[in-house]
Amino acid sequence: MEWRQVNLKYKKIVEVPRPFIKWVGGKRQLIPQLSQYFPDKFNTYIEPFVGGGAIFFYLLPQKSVLMDINPELINTYQVIKHKVEELIESLRQHKNNKDYFYEIRSWDRNPSRFRTLDKVERASRAIFLNKTCYNGLFRVNKKNQFNTPFGRYKNPTICDELNLRAVSIALTDAKIQLGDFSESINNAKSGDFVYMDCPYHPVSDTANFTSYTMDDFGIGEQKRLHRVYSELDKKGCTVLLSNSYTPFILDLYKDYVINIVHANRAVNCDPSKRGKVREVLISNKK
Ligand SMILES: C[S@@+](CC[C@H](N)C(=O)[O-])C[C@H]1O[C@@H](n2cnc3c(N)ncnc32)[C@H](O)[C@@H]1O
Repeated sequence: MEWRQVNLKYKKIVEVPRPFIKWVGGKRQLIPQLSQYFPDKFNTYIEPFVGGGAIFFYLLPQKSVLMDINPELINTYQVIKHKVEELIESLRQHKNNKDYFYEIRSWDRNPSRFRTLDKVERASRAIFLNKTCYNGLFRVNKKNQFNTPFGRYKNPTICDELNLRAVSIALTDAKIQLGDFSESINNAKSGDFVYMDCPYHPVSDTANFTSYTMDDFGIGEQKRLHRVYSELDKKGCTVLLSNSYTPFILDLYKDYVINIVHANRAVNCDPSKRGKVREVLISNKK
């Protein structure tokens, strides 16, 4: 649904929604390059690795399926969709100070404590940590514990209520699903548009950030993803996939159209390796 129609449907003018969380690998800056490959028409938009959802918020599709394997992220989308006012109320209570940050961060070190949190408290914690942690990195260790340090920002916007309400409306007709990318096959039908922004295949051993969840995304996962890509292609979907420009990825997708895009990348421990990098956008349509 076009944003103007949404406003008409709800009989009020709301902000144009933007990603509500900062996410490593966010695709916002690449939209001008990627969008030229998007189909003009499609039925349902499916994003199996939704992360911060930059492409979803760009397209604002009428019908969509948003999926990710990160339970805190998916819970946050669901809470924004169904309980945005409670979430806003909870976010208003947070404070931007170091001791408070580490107190909230520590909740996942105590599983029995964590299980007592309700969905709104968990979403509120996820957004608070994202807005106040170093560089907005939503990173967990092998035990699934959030481990990014305090960010020392002077005045972060922890509760962007206008945007959260706009996002809530944008999610009205979205199906939000926790799960593995392979489940996209069950959701997809001919005429759908699937955009896959998986964790990237590393350009070098240390180059890539892949710790969104406690499970690593290695070669086996890339090959499994390629099989899912082929299945979606056979089903008659338009499938676009972003990944790094490496010999392995170029070979894996050699039967498809490989477009090159240029991205600014900041996630590298070695500052000399930050800057413009080549990436690929694999397309199954000529
Ligand atoms: C590169 S990020 C997506 C960034 C997103 N496009 C954006 O603009 O913010 C990759 C996402 O894949 C998710 N992920 C990792 N393994 C997954 C799996 N097996 N199935 C589904 N999602 C997975 C991560 O939780 C992360 O959110």
